[in-house]
Amino acid sequence: MASVLRAAAGFLYLLLVVAAPALLPVASAVPFIVLHGIGDQCGNSGIASFTEMLGEWSGSKGYCIEVGKGSWDSWLMPLQEQADTVCKKVKKMKELRKGYNIVGLSEGNLIGRAVIEYCDGAPPIKNFISIGGPHAGTASVPLCGSGIVCILIDALLKLEIYSNYVQAHLAPSGYLKIPTDMADYLKGCKFLPKLNNEIPSERNATYKERFSSLDNLVLIMFEDDEVLIPRETAWFGYYPDGAFSPVQPPQKTKLYIEDWIGLKTLNEAGRVKFVSVPGGHLSISRSDMKKYVVPYLKSAGSSTQGIRRFLSI
Ligand SMILES: *[C@@H]1O[C@H](CO)[C@@H](O)[C@H](O)[C@H]1NC(C)=O
Repeated sequence: MASVLRAAAGFLYLLLVVAAPALLPVASAVPFIVLHGIGDQCGNSGIASFTEMLGEWSGSKGYCIEVGKGSWDSWLMPLQEQADTVCKKVKKMKELRKGYNIVGLSEGNLIGRAVIEYCDGAPPIKNFISIGGPHAGTASVPLCGSGIVCILIDALLKLEIYSNYVQAHLAPSGYLKIPTDMADYLKGCKFLPKLNNEIPSERNATYKERFSSLDNLVLIMFEDDEVLIPRETAWFGYYPDGAFSPVQPPQKTKLYIEDWIGLKTLNEAGRVKFVSVPGGHLSISRSDMKKYVVPYLKSAGSSTQGIRRFLSI
């Protein structure tokens, strides 16, 4: 009897010594990219420290990807061009080849979604964490501020927003959705109708297939967001066609019900997290970053957890 126990103990010991180190390197951390919002650039200290903090807390490597050449490009370069730039970059980065996660801020989320849906030949995306993204459009352009370029932007806004000229020169016009002007939006808006598979004759099943194959979609909305109109757009909620009220929750929109891009598929599989946090646009607190962003950046099935489970048998 004693020898059986000793043999068992020896076996267990062997298992621990041999198996434990073998378990450790199993899960290599998945890197992530950060896509900033309008008027920002990767060289700015805010977005740089945001990327750094997430990297530190998650133990994963993070890269801020520039959408153009400096902050004005996020205002003035059509979103499709910004998305093409990011698409080319992620395909070149060998660090991302085994798959990666995306953290988007505001407008950056639409670029992230374009990369997910139609960046052919790109590495697989696992988790998409969207912080204040105008996914269903916005009924107002963010405030530019002062300065010469803002004067130009204000002038552009006074023109027909769905004209080819404005669409080609003002990025937010690509997701400006005036609910009382849906016909012009669907006809003239160059970016969002395509991204959301809104035009019946132009729907592309590949977008849906790719978007619905995400592991997790985290949609973070700010309770006091005054930049995104309505703030529920961060959850894919929006105004009904033809009116400015009432705001429809995501599940009541046609995009969801008819499942144009796979949001319903994802949600029914339990892979969408609708998160609401206090504060104005993009003012996410550190504790909410730790609670809602960081867990999705840590490698799945973390190896230390595996060992703990193994030891407690
Ligand atoms: C649909 O989108 C995919 C991904 O970008 C593309 O490869 C394909 O050609 C598109 N199909 C049509 C019919 O446009």
